[in-house]
Amino acid sequence: MAAYDEIADWYEEEFLRAQPVNPGAEALRGLLGEGSGVCLELGCGTGVHAGLVRELGWTPVGVDLSGGMLRHARARLPIARADAARLPIRDSSVAAVVAVLVHTDMPAYFAVLREVARVLRPDGVFVHVGVHPCFCGGFADRGDPAAVVVRPGYLDGHWTKESWTDQGIRDKVGATHWPLPELLNGFLDAGLTLDRFAEAGTPLPIVLAARAHAR
Ligand SMILES: C[S@@+](CC[C@H](N)C(=O)[O-])C[C@H]1O[C@@H](n2cnc3c(N)ncnc32)[C@H](O)[C@@H]1O
Repeated sequence: MAAYDEIADWYEEEFLRAQPVNPGAEALRGLLGEGSGVCLELGCGTGVHAGLVRELGWTPVGVDLSGGMLRHARARLPIARADAARLPIRDSSVAAVVAVLVHTDMPAYFAVLREVARVLRPDGVFVHVGVHPCFCGGFADRGDPAAVVVRPGYLDGHWTKESWTDQGIRDKVGATHWPLPELLNGFLDAGLTLDRFAEAGTPLPIVLAARAHAR
C-alpha cells in the first residue's frame, strides 16, 4: 500500500512512540487471551503487536500490503506481503486471526472478513480491534481532551482525510467509515459468530473490539 510506504518511518519512529498506552493492545490482550498455534495478524504494519501475541502463547505471523511497514516488522515476526482480502492460506488452517486498527484502512474489509471465516479452523478465534465507529472519524472532533464533539457525518459511511489533528493517520492516508450496524452486519454476513466485545480509550472509547469464531 503506497500510502503506508510513505509514512512507515514516521509510524514506527514518531506515531507509535507518541502513544504512552496503545489502546489497541489493551483490547487485543483482553479478547485474544492465552492460546497456542499460529496467530495470523492482518495488516500487521510494523509488527508492534507481535510481542504481546507471543507473550499470550501464540506464534505470530503477519501479512501486510506495505513493503515499507514490513521492513520494520521483519525483526519482530515472520511476515509475508499479501492482501488481507485474498489470503494465500489454506481453508480451515489457522488457529487465530487478529486485525488491529486496520479496518478503516481496508475499503474491502467485508471481503477480508470472508477470508477470515475461510482460513479459520473450526475451533479458531478471530479478534477485530478497530477504530471506534461512533467516537472517531471525520465527523468526530477529539481536540478537547475532556470532550468528544460528534457532528453529522456518522451516518454517511464515507472515505475521508478529514481529521481534527495533523498528528494522526487519517489526514495522511485517509480512512473508510461504516456506521456500527453496517460494520457488525459485515461480520454476520461473512459467516462469523460474534462472542465478546470490548472498548478502550478515554475520555470516550477510541477502539471497539470484538471476538468472533467461524460458524
Ligand atoms: C494503521 S496501520 C495498523 C498496523 C498495525 N496493525 C498496528 O496496530 O500498528 C494499517 C495497516 O494495514 C495495512 N493494509 C491496508 N490494506 C491492507 C490490505 N488490503 N491487506 C493487508 N494489509 C493492508 C497497511 O499497509 C498498514 O500497515
